[in-house]
Amino acid sequence: MKIGVDYYPEQWDRSLWSKDAELMAKTGVKTVRLAEFAWSRLEPNEDEYDFSWLDEVISIFSHYGIEIILCTPTNCPPLWLYEKYPEIVQVGVDGKPLQIGIRGHRCINNQIFLEYAMKITEEMARHYADHPSVVAWQIDNELEAYPCCCEACRDDFRIWLIDKYDSIENINKAFGNSVWSGEYSSITQIQPPTAYPSAWQNPSLCMEFYRFTSEITVKYVKIISSIIRRYCPKAKITTNTWFCEHMPDFYKLFDELDFVSYDNYPPVKIPEDPEAFYSHAFHLDLMRGIKEKNFWVMEQLSGPTGSWAPMSASPKPNMIMGYALQAFAHGADTVVHFRWRTAVTGAEMHWHGILDHSNVPGRRFFEFAELCKIASKLEILKDTQLISGIAILYSPEAEYALKNQPQTEGYYYFEQLKYFHAAFAKYGANIDVVSPETDLSQYKIVVAPALYVNNKAATENLYRYVMNGGTLVLTNRSGVKDKNNNCIIDSLPTVFKELVGAEVTEYDPIGNSEQKIVDFSGNEFVCREWCDILKLNTAKAYAQYADGYYLCCPAVTVNEYCKGLTYYVGTVCKSDFYEKFASRLMKQNGIPRLRGLSKGVEVTTRTNGIDEYIFFFNNSEQNTVIGLPKPMYSIIDSMGKDKIELKPFGMDVVRK
Ligand code: GAL
Repeated sequence: MKIGVDYYPEQWDRSLWSKDAELMAKTGVKTVRLAEFAWSRLEPNEDEYDFSWLDEVISIFSHYGIEIILCTPTNCPPLWLYEKYPEIVQVGVDGKPLQIGIRGHRCINNQIFLEYAMKITEEMARHYADHPSVVAWQIDNELEAYPCCCEACRDDFRIWLIDKYDSIENINKAFGNSVWSGEYSSITQIQPPTAYPSAWQNPSLCMEFYRFTSEITVKYVKIISSIIRRYCPKAKITTNTWFCEHMPDFYKLFDELDFVSYDNYPPVKIPEDPEAFYSHAFHLDLMRGIKEKNFWVMEQLSGPTGSWAPMSASPKPNMIMGYALQAFAHGADTVVHFRWRTAVTGAEMHWHGILDHSNVPGRRFFEFAELCKIASKLEILKDTQLISGIAILYSPEAEYALKNQPQTEGYYYFEQLKYFHAAFAKYGANIDVVSPETDLSQYKIVVAPALYVNNKAATENLYRYVMNGGTLVLTNRSGVKDKNNNCIIDSLPTVFKELVGAEVTEYDPIGNSEQKIVDFSGNEFVCREWCDILKLNTAKAYAQYADGYYLCCPAVTVNEYCKGLTYYVGTVCKSDFYEKFASRLMKQNGIPRLRGLSKGVEVTTRTNGIDEYIFFFNNSEQNTVIGLPKPMYSIIDSMGKDKIELKPFGMDVVRK
């Protein structure tokens, strides 16, 4: 288990490089990420490459035994390139080029930009091929499926559509362009969805443009990674990602890359509303689920955040340590902190690193140093992973489509997944968040909330899973759209109707109003946001509405289908419903439940197939004590224990 830091040598005086490396080595830093935005230093003028300073930095770190993650600096083209080719800049939905001089504003689909990005990558890859200290490569920074509306993107989008649909007539038909006289009579009339808020645009057009921009991002990563591989065949390549506004399809983005890396900035403030989501565990599980294997954190919270927003509170004592260990608990193998020292220049000078502007080691630094020591004790976990009996399915297209057309007040796709995640997590279960198309046979329980856009492969996968004996949970807003993002003429949940054994006769998008449901054993729960009024075919009612004009109508159903079971949750509830529901499902499926964990306590298990290591994390501001069924050995404290005592944000790891 390794701890690293992000370091920007080009932003510091040369005299600091050795001092920094020496202190990092003394502190226990094992890895450093370099060169991320340094294009103007690596190619100060066209075709004039200067790697001498980076060579010097790398040799300093190598001297101290610190490994290097090398980045392609392609996020930040130098100003000479923008000056020479102003057309490489991204164009916003308002048709205006973005302002240069910040970062990331290059169109990754522009051929001129691509040529230069490929050239600098090639020079770097050739120069650092087989360098023994370079352990990984990062492509660019936080790539988005940005809806660029430049001429190149617009033209390519038109060609992409024609390639896909063969003719203008087919596009008109697929998009339902007879609405509002939107029929194209020539390819030149096709425009990216610009100008209006996207909710006014044709949803089919929006969906296709999203697919197009996501594909461009994937293609870019493929182009750049293939250059690195040509010179460095053994390279481990990634790109760092996060939950941004324009998320590309993560499954496809990382398809050709070796591992996922994630920029992890958990919030430092615990919300007062007990229903608000706080833990970052769901995001970490999703990152692990993209490639269904362990991942890295490429940027980790290190201090108060801020710059383009007012500064956040500082991480509380134990948070720097606790949140890094939480990432290990969910499958990270390396956690790299952003950044070693807080910048004293540039726009990000208030996004804090481990060291403050003063360069005087303080509270956060000492906690970080302690973390480095603990991480080295966790070396024993090197070849371990999380094995889970529960999966939650994440669909990038459902996420996009539901963001594009909000359904009802308060209804967010990710929250629909998090309700279930939090409920299973309450009982200390490992949870995978994976693709709807993946092989589900290893799971005892699969939850697929709001599978809004139909995808034939995923639908067949779910039928297969239940036919073979799986327990599936579907929810409201499933099977609503066809692949063109148009509504399906059938009663909901359309393609899942047979699996569910019930159908929706009417729905009521109640937003933030509250109603009640009662389950088969008389427990009452508050429901909100969405109410499907269901008619039973082969299913039985699990819960029904307890008030309103659909009093006594089924709200949650269960259906035996071949060897398996399908539940359908037609409404959205508060956490107590999901907790009860998850507990029953786990019991039925023989998944052990840890009961009585206090709020905020997270338990996950990593195994190498022989030994199991249990992580106990206290993601709360109260001290907590967890009794163990038998004495266990703590890897962190090197001693046997029969109970785990944790301070706020404290972590313990025991061998089972
Ligand atoms: C990330 C980005 C970093 C830095 C950080 C803090 O999103 O990748 O380069 O900007 O945020 O602001």
